[in-house]
Amino acid sequence: MEPVTIGRHVLTLPIYNASGVHCTEKGQLDELYHCKYTGAVVTKSSTVYAREGNPKPRYYFDAHRSYSINSSGLPNIGMNKYVEWICETRRIKPCILSVAPLSLDDLKHQITAVADNVAIIDPEINLSCPNIVGRPQVAYDIPIFEEYNRIIAERFGEKGYGLKLPPYFDTTISDNVCDVINAINTNSYITCINSVPNAFDLCDELVPTIAPNSGFGGLGGRCILPIALSNVRRFASSTKKDIVGCGGITQGGDIKKHFACGAKAVQIGTSLYENGINDFRRLCDEFVG
Ligand code: DHB
Repeated sequence: MEPVTIGRHVLTLPIYNASGVHCTEKGQLDELYHCKYTGAVVTKSSTVYAREGNPKPRYYFDAHRSYSINSSGLPNIGMNKYVEWICETRRIKPCILSVAPLSLDDLKHQITAVADNVAIIDPEINLSCPNIVGRPQVAYDIPIFEEYNRIIAERFGEKGYGLKLPPYFDTTISDNVCDVINAINTNSYITCINSVPNAFDLCDELVPTIAPNSGFGGLGGRCILPIALSNVRRFASSTKKDIVGCGGITQGGDIKKHFACGAKAVQIGTSLYENGINDFRRLCDEFVG
């Protein structure tokens, strides 16, 4: 397989983890890094300070219907620890910092902290976290989304960055998002999509499947593939950015579909959570074969 470029990252294999899965602790990151079948590693979305996250159960998987619901609430060891891991590790494959600012002040602080760090190459800025109660998703509010991007671009200067976007369900809105993105040269790639927000289901006992946020959480797994593909296709055709496809991949054929819609690389979320790190070998074999 030919290497692919995602912004300033060069991947010899176009498959890696979705932020949030198997990437919270340094030991998990090491496992992803040493796995022969990952082309990159992205960290758990990080905040200024470490967080415990929401009460458990905060992740649910319906094996019969093959979907997940999560509301983890950003458990993470704090951005500086991930920066430290990347500085210690980065050698043979890209190690990508994911940043999830909880406020404009956090954004400024986080961006300033990594702006001059040459080990932090094109981080994935997550403006689509759906699970913090009382905080709307930045990427669903276009004027605020624009302001965040302006601040990132100003403070980063020439440094590139990626954006993790939520699914959009309205073409006029996604066109407006594309206009904002297209106006910023240093936004180098887009990851489509984060989980589908506000999903809800009940267990057999008719209680919510997860505890936090009254049971509402982000939907992942096989059933979101058509939503992911529609977003990948639209952003690939309406921007000149590199597209990382994420969502609904459970087999090699799904990866081919993401690529056919315009993705240059893909991330694996729910399938990795359910099957563990050996999932990458199966997916690579199915994709190449
Ligand atoms: C969490 C979930 C997300 O979908 C995300 O983008 C960031 C954080 C979480 O609940 O931890």
